[in-house]
Amino acid sequence: MEQNVRLKFQEHFSEEGFVYASPGRINLIGEHTDYNGGFVFPGAVDKGIIAEIKPNGLEKVRVFSIDLNEYAEFGLEEQDIPTQNWARYIFGVCREIIKRGKAPRCFDAAFAGDVPLGAGMSSSAALESTFAFALNDIFNLGIDKFELAKIGQATEHNYVGVNCGIMDQFASVFGRAGSLIRLDCRSLEYEYFPFNPIGYKLVLIDSVVKHELASSAYNKRRHSCETAVAAISKTHPEVKFLRDATMPMLKEVKDLISAEDYMRAEYVIEEIQRVLDVCEALKVGDYATVGQKMYETHYGMSKLYEVSCEELDFLNDIAKKNGVTGSRVMGGGFGGCTINLVKEELYGSFVADAVSSFTAKFGKQPKVYDVVISDGSRRIS
Ligand code: GLA
Repeated sequence: MEQNVRLKFQEHFSEEGFVYASPGRINLIGEHTDYNGGFVFPGAVDKGIIAEIKPNGLEKVRVFSIDLNEYAEFGLEEQDIPTQNWARYIFGVCREIIKRGKAPRCFDAAFAGDVPLGAGMSSSAALESTFAFALNDIFNLGIDKFELAKIGQATEHNYVGVNCGIMDQFASVFGRAGSLIRLDCRSLEYEYFPFNPIGYKLVLIDSVVKHELASSAYNKRRHSCETAVAAISKTHPEVKFLRDATMPMLKEVKDLISAEDYMRAEYVIEEIQRVLDVCEALKVGDYATVGQKMYETHYGMSKLYEVSCEELDFLNDIAKKNGVTGSRVMGGGFGGCTINLVKEELYGSFVADAVSSFTAKFGKQPKVYDVVISDGSRRIS
């Protein structure tokens, strides 16, 4: 991929620039907890975006998307927003940097990626982080890594329309080979956990389902959580996020909020605790507990948060049937992958059964990705 990016950059701009990369991510546990001030437990993967970039001294940015074979040009003023969706991510990153009082200049860029789109592995965060990291480096803007992640998140909010939390951009920027990172999304404290479960593998099975309305459904989930917090904080003003709430507090407002909002909040409060439980279990090598919590998450995401779908529930059942230690829908949901913690000796039979049973039932083949936990945003050359 890197060679191809260099070739295309040279072809388009007849020059050589600097090459940067940022990855997609997995998340072992802690879903829809980030925007609730809770914990997440992601890691960066070996799939991502690679971009070659060079300042061009012009009044416009010129970018070539190699995968789409599309070209975009735009200025850096708010009204210069490009029409192509993919270019809006890059434009948004530039604008968010400018809003923070920094002055990136215009540049040429060519980029390509290998994070499967719509698989819940955060291809968009990989794109945002690549450009935020690169522009900060090239133009010496002095922005710290957390702010780079926030620039990506704000791009989603203001230029894409997804009110996402910080997890994806954080994992993409902060990833470290071989480690998962537990992030407290309220205090922004984080801790690296070396993750090398001897005798186990982590594998993603991609349902290849992409939900058209995923972003509005996502924003709706977030709204439910905020409604629950508003109700609880009337009698418990210290509650600013669901992270600060307990199940007894939620029960107090059961009749004041809709049954749907109640279920959403219940899932989140339980999920935040599960992340802590998994971290404790990992410290003592108790993979059975890790796996059990993953299944509990799947149940919650399917029945309470309602972000699973028939295909993902089916993959979860197949995992159970094959003795997989832990399995659940990963990421925002509404399609995408399950993440599976499976004993090495069961890996082959599980994957074979998942692929053949899924294909027989849904008439399309799921994709399989082995998880390789890798480094975050970096300059390659
Ligand atoms: C998406 C969002 C994240 C997070 C997950 C669910 O990936 O971008 O901020 O909320 O969904 O955990």
